[in-house]
Amino acid sequence: MGVKIVETALRDGHQSLFATRMTTDEALLAIDELDRAGYHALEVWGGATFDTCMRFLNEDPWDRLRKIRARVKHTKLQMLFRGQNILGYRHYSDDVVEKFVQKSLENGIDIIRVFDALNDIRNLKCAVEATKKYGGHCQIALSYTTSPVHTVDYYVELARQVEAMGADSLCIKDMAGVMLPDDAFELVSRLKQNTKLPIDLHSHCTGGMMDMTYLKAIEAGVDIIDCAISPLSGGTSQPTTEAFQYVLAGTEHDPHLNLEALDQAAVKLAAVRDKYLANGLLNPKAMSPDPRVLKFQLPGGMLSNLMSQLKEQNAMNRYEEVLKEVPRVRAELGYPPLVTPLSQMVGTQAVMNVMTGERYKMVPNEVKEYLHGLYGKSPAPVDEAVRKKIIGDDPVIGHRPADDLAPEFEGLKAKYKDLARSDEDVLSLSLFESVAAKYLAQKYAPPKPAAEIDEFNVFIGGESR
Ligand code: CO
Repeated sequence: MGVKIVETALRDGHQSLFATRMTTDEALLAIDELDRAGYHALEVWGGATFDTCMRFLNEDPWDRLRKIRARVKHTKLQMLFRGQNILGYRHYSDDVVEKFVQKSLENGIDIIRVFDALNDIRNLKCAVEATKKYGGHCQIALSYTTSPVHTVDYYVELARQVEAMGADSLCIKDMAGVMLPDDAFELVSRLKQNTKLPIDLHSHCTGGMMDMTYLKAIEAGVDIIDCAISPLSGGTSQPTTEAFQYVLAGTEHDPHLNLEALDQAAVKLAAVRDKYLANGLLNPKAMSPDPRVLKFQLPGGMLSNLMSQLKEQNAMNRYEEVLKEVPRVRAELGYPPLVTPLSQMVGTQAVMNVMTGERYKMVPNEVKEYLHGLYGKSPAPVDEAVRKKIIGDDPVIGHRPADDLAPEFEGLKAKYKDLARSDEDVLSLSLFESVAAKYLAQKYAPPKPAAEIDEFNVFIGGESR
């Protein structure tokens, strides 16, 4: 058995390179070729893909999933699921989490990759149990980061816990692309010694060294790697699928992918990439390495966010100060991995600390909620002086945040009884209420009278000539 490959082009690939704007038609363009290439799975769904469909593309994310499923006969479909956040940004009640898992599997997903930004496994419990209940493959992802508490021992212990929870496989999710080759070798080796679960490595090429890290992980026995087909690979995206086929062919790690099918898919998807290069959504800078992610140990997206926040305030001259402030804030907040939503929270706090001239004088609401325990348990204890300064003697919850949430699904179903036509619609509303309400209202709007449509077409026709 060689190493298996998950193709990320249809989820993380375009999310990392051009703001998740690939349309369903574009996703289907090379779907037959991808299906016969021999992948372990195609990653096709996740938070941003779901949100962008309705918000920017005027598409139904559930339709996209069903259309892909109808064409993909031989390959598993995979999605990314943010634990109790599902695909959104807050904690949802257990009934919504369970229903979302059930409907995702019913509409065609095979593998659900569940993770929690803080690695608080209580936030995974509901999604994991639902995935098992409805017959899906449950992959639990460990958010990878570097800090004094995120040691190899920490990850080995976490892996033991998620194995006990019932995970079918394990993923090391290095969202910032900071895992160095030797660290990967050590981590994968130790995990292989301590768990029977297949191990998947997910990372990004942002720093420019990820091919080396993948190769060392393969040498250490990693079972699955996440790659993107050439036109959608490299830069802020994943390492290149075809390259691993060429490098590993004929070895014990041979992924056995069909290069001719990959070639044909790459030609079609190169045209998609070129469209986004031409319209500016794909910034050429996203395609070349940025070693600053290694220097600052921050995800690339966070660096560009900080820059745009400072530019808005005409304060680019404070950039270096902010970059020094970020690790301080992160340490004081108990070393959260810098992934959504924690990366935004830590970044915004650092900007505020620098710009106001007094640390923690201004604090975003989300940071206050985090300090109250509403996102779960921080990896290391929060600095007590900082907590006191921000929330005083307010109580901090010690239980799972979703334990305090009443069921939400039936209430929303009743609220939108005139709009939602299926449980899937209700779930879209549960996650992104205003965006979904606007989208569904126009999706189900009565068709315009024929005369009006004709006039419209004539007008468009005239324009295009
Ligand atoms: Co990723």
